[in-house]
Amino acid sequence: MRLILYVGKGGVGKTTVAAATAVRAAELGQRTLIVSTDIAHSLADVLGVDLGSEPTEVSRSLCAEEINILDEMRRTWGKLPGELSDLLRKKGASPIQADELAILPGMEEVAVLITLGRRIRSGAYDCVVVDAAPTGETIRLLSLPESLQWYAERILEWRNRLQHLAGPLLRGALPDLSILDVLANVGDRLKDLRSILTDPACSSYRPVLTADRVVLKEARRAETYLNIFDYPIDAVIVNRLLVSSQTGNAFFDGLLARQNAVVSDIERSFAALPLFRAPWWPEEPVGTPSLSTFARQLFGDRDPTEVMYVGPTQRIEPTDNGYLLTIRMPNVESGKLSVRKRGDALFIDVANTRREIALPRALVPLEPARARLRAGRLEIPFVPKQGNL
Ligand SMILES: Nc1ncnc2c1ncn2[C@@H]1O[C@H](COP(=O)(O)OP(=O)(O)OP(=O)(O)O)[C@@H](O)[C@H]1O
Ligand SMILES: [Mg+2]
Repeated sequence: MRLILYVGKGGVGKTTVAAATAVRAAELGQRTLIVSTDIAHSLADVLGVDLGSEPTEVSRSLCAEEINILDEMRRTWGKLPGELSDLLRKKGASPIQADELAILPGMEEVAVLITLGRRIRSGAYDCVVVDAAPTGETIRLLSLPESLQWYAERILEWRNRLQHLAGPLLRGALPDLSILDVLANVGDRLKDLRSILTDPACSSYRPVLTADRVVLKEARRAETYLNIFDYPIDAVIVNRLLVSSQTGNAFFDGLLARQNAVVSDIERSFAALPLFRAPWWPEEPVGTPSLSTFARQLFGDRDPTEVMYVGPTQRIEPTDNGYLLTIRMPNVESGKLSVRKRGDALFIDVANTRREIALPRALVPLEPARARLRAGRLEIPFVPKQGNL
């Protein structure tokens, strides 16, 4: 079973690339499902078919669905939002405010994940491709299993302790215990799902970019977050590239030069990962025949569901006085090395190439110490600033 999820900034072509991957996988004989987890669905438009909230057959071996968030909320959380809303109304919230407030942060994402888990476990598919929402929302979705599990465990501990300590009066004031049971149950289901989502033999995450600096910056951040939460990245997709023969006037020449410069930056940024490129089409690539052509331009003869790369591209481990950041740097064994940090960006100059890394929050207040390059890996210790010791 393979799960492939494309992440990237709004509008870069995630839905197009995901749909093309699914169309091609099905052509190669795999029972494939493409699921849109984006609340603003556009999968049906890209595939050129009508879709519902259950898998619908699009062509031989290919099913597609757009998750209906209202249905899945009801299925996952049952009466909980309704009960919360009643409670809030009794406390003075207007009905419309109460309905909005009763959807706690993360509830919708959890419902989406549970649906995804159900499809994966159904055994009906060899390959599930996820058409996800833009980066921020998807990172939130993917960080949920970890955080929810953590909260569920703490809440249960807290409940047990309170039940022992509290007298009858206080016990009556505790929140309805069934809420906590629902939460614990959901936490358990997500635990299983997370082990699938982080298994590199099964799941792959692929940043999608266009050759624009702002887009690249966001993709770097996505890479950092995926690495932190152990989601395996196996390839990078660069979409909407001008082909030189399309130029001929000053505007296109300028755009092509800009794209070429950003593409070299993308190659350096994701040095360890294979890069797949798609040309800029004059028309929109919609409908299965166009998507199949698009997939073959992107992946050539390769099966898009192959695991393209194994191994984290970055790793962050705690040390006695900070963290050690390890970055994969294949093909760079030696050379003059300089590491500088500005805000949440880390600039690495080695052997005449520059790489920029988006730092996670925990490393931002620290300073990089002397870095070491060995066996295709760059190790950078992060320690407290002098004076803050
Ligand atoms: N290589 C390409 N050539 C021409 N048009 C493209 C290409 N890739 C995508 N498009 C078009 O660009 C638009 C945005 O693509 P798409 O919907 O796949 O992006 P997205 O990343 O899923 O967007 P969102 O973040 O809104 O979900 C669509 O109209 C699509 O047909
Ligand atoms: Mg989309």
